[in-house]
Amino acid sequence: MTTADGRTIGIIGGAGWLAGALLRPALAKSAVRADDVILSSRRPEVSGFEAWPSIRTTTDNAELARQADVVILSVRPEDLGGVEADLSGKLVISVMARMPMAEIARRFGCARMVRAMPNASAEQAQSFTPWHASAAVTAEDRAFVASFFGASGIAREVPNEPDIDYFTGLTGSGFAFPALMARAMIEHAIENGVAPDLADVAVRQLMLGAGTYVSVSTQNAAEIVKEFVDYGGTTAAGLTAMIDRGSDAVVKAGLDAAWKRARGG
Ligand SMILES: NC(=O)c1ccc[n+]([C@@H]2O[C@H](COP(=O)([O-])OP(=O)(O)OC[C@H]3O[C@@H](n4cnc5c(N)ncnc54)[C@H](OP(=O)(O)O)[C@@H]3O)[C@@H](O)[C@H]2O)c1
Repeated sequence: MTTADGRTIGIIGGAGWLAGALLRPALAKSAVRADDVILSSRRPEVSGFEAWPSIRTTTDNAELARQADVVILSVRPEDLGGVEADLSGKLVISVMARMPMAEIARRFGCARMVRAMPNASAEQAQSFTPWHASAAVTAEDRAFVASFFGASGIAREVPNEPDIDYFTGLTGSGFAFPALMARAMIEHAIENGVAPDLADVAVRQLMLGAGTYVSVSTQNAAEIVKEFVDYGGTTAAGLTAMIDRGSDAVVKAGLDAAWKRARGG
């Protein structure tokens, strides 16, 4: 793909799930151009880009690095040792969890680096993607990063690299934590006699309505909860019971555990 300023970009791990989820919205919204996309993977067959036949693929990361000005690292952290490429002089964008910039610099000899943490809603263009740039990253690099990740949701630059570890737990987990709430609600409905398929569709629609409302409301989440508690109805009875049983502490304990894991704990 060629950026607005004419640079060529390659994605190492380009056949993977996240690479496709990020790239397809970027292509669809013309944040990048297919003609110059280079994707690498271990297997020669790459699927999911049939609508963009001019995208090139390779199994040779060194060749990708020779052709690309911007290299996106999208392999699993445990597979990074198998990536051999000279990335000195490139803008290197890592979407890998638990991989510090210092380690990427040590392995690949790069200085212009961005660490970003998209989530699994990228394919629906609903990711929240924080990103942090090293000191050597230029204004043009920043513009590309904002445009690329902005195509798959909302992207925000964050001031410190440790922020990325924090957001790995908070938003990198995507819809997993809300899904836990949905699971408990569906289980409760079934335990109380609701047919499983009816419980499933009811809670799916509830989550859609909740997500839409929370995302567009002029009230923040605390104000929404307070308003329902103050109203004093059925919802207040449920919320108060959940809060009194430690719902906030349970969620925060989960976020603490995810954050600790993201820091390498
Ligand atoms: N999935 C998410 O929601 C999410 C969210 C935030 C961050 N991340 C991060 O994104 C990264 C990728 O995750 P993913 O879910 O996309 O994993 P994935 O589907 O397993 O994709 C990883 C890809 O890397 C390729 N690969 C492995 N070693 C390679 C090598 N030496 N050269 C070229 N390609 C190689 C694999 O190719 P083969 O299939 O040919 O083996 C695979 O297609 C991870 O570091 C993860 O922490 C993921």
